[in-house]
Amino acid sequence: MKIVVTGAAGFIGTNMVRRLIKEGIEVVAVDSLARNGTPKNLETLRQDFPALKFEQKEIEDMPAVIHRERPDLVYHFAAQVAVTSSVVSPARDFKINAEGSFGVVIAAAEVGAPVIYTSTNKVYGDNVNRVPITETESRYDFGGEFFQHGLPEGFSIDAAHHTPYGISKLIGEMYVREYGGIANRCSCMYGPYQFGVVDQGWMSHIATNKLSGRPTIIYGDGKQVRDALHVEDVMDLFLSQMRAITGKDAARYRGEVYNVGGGHENTVSLLELCRRWEITPQFGDWRPADQKVFYCNIAKARQDFGWVPKVGLDEGLTGLYAWTKKSLGLA
Ligand SMILES: NC(=O)c1ccc[n+]([C@@H]2O[C@H](COP(=O)([O-])OP(=O)(O)OC[C@H]3O[C@@H](n4cnc5c(N)ncnc54)[C@H](O)[C@@H]3O)[C@@H](O)[C@H]2O)c1
Repeated sequence: MKIVVTGAAGFIGTNMVRRLIKEGIEVVAVDSLARNGTPKNLETLRQDFPALKFEQKEIEDMPAVIHRERPDLVYHFAAQVAVTSSVVSPARDFKINAEGSFGVVIAAAEVGAPVIYTSTNKVYGDNVNRVPITETESRYDFGGEFFQHGLPEGFSIDAAHHTPYGISKLIGEMYVREYGGIANRCSCMYGPYQFGVVDQGWMSHIATNKLSGRPTIIYGDGKQVRDALHVEDVMDLFLSQMRAITGKDAARYRGEVYNVGGGHENTVSLLELCRRWEITPQFGDWRPADQKVFYCNIAKARQDFGWVPKVGLDEGLTGLYAWTKKSLGLA
């Protein structure tokens, strides 16, 4: 089995490359190294796996790699990942996430390789804010039928105000599914090899702030809730999907979409995370189309792959904090 991983030096990509190599799978890793932290991730990958095949490529040059390598599968993670950047530069966001993903999907289809893709909860857009919510002193929660269960894949995506990022990721997702791949609508993922910044990777960003003595600014009132999923659990799911979509029952999984998150028991609000790490945050204006609550119903992934998240929030956050401390040279 040979696999091309796009976005291979990013957070998800680095974890994926590590797991695939440990499974004895041949990997071709590609990344533009646009994201902060990616040179560091690449360096660690090269130290641990000296034979790693890595190519520095922009997304528009990745189809040529796929044509040349003719992999059995493509994990497509390369993306413009920040909602705020997509608002400031929607054309660039579209070029990378929509057009770039189109190129990757078509090239993969031409060599007969299914694509496994990381989409986002942002595809549900502002519709999420129409679900009735409840409020406590530290967090919002869904009220009514979605309380504790979270939103299923059938929840409407038919809203205005997705943010440009939500739209460009949805376009990528639709092409992946159209050509027989699997799309995962991921919530908030966290863990080692994550270099969070102010507009993406908030748990890692807040840990970095605390450890560097920098202030943390919360946009909104901080009661926003997300279901956090540790990257090791993400990897378990993506490997199961790889086996499924390259196996004898592949047809069953082609074109499917899965909500992927930690579920209600792994939800946390911004305020709660700040309290856990003894941070007194500052506050700024709400960000456009920010979802007050998002957690997803992961029953479909459980049913199709026997998958459930195993890493609880306490264990996962302790690990993230320790890894961040080490990466900053403080441990
Ligand atoms: N981290 C999360 O919580 C989360 C949630 C939902 C969806 N996602 C999706 O998961 C995927 C991986 O995200 P991540 O958290 O690992 O982010 P990341 O920024 O660490 O990884 C993205 C990678 O894409 C690369 N990249 C960016 N622009 C590129 C370009 N023009 N050409 C080639 N490569 C380029 C970056 O260098 C980076 O390595 C993305 O598709 C993202 O949209 C992530």
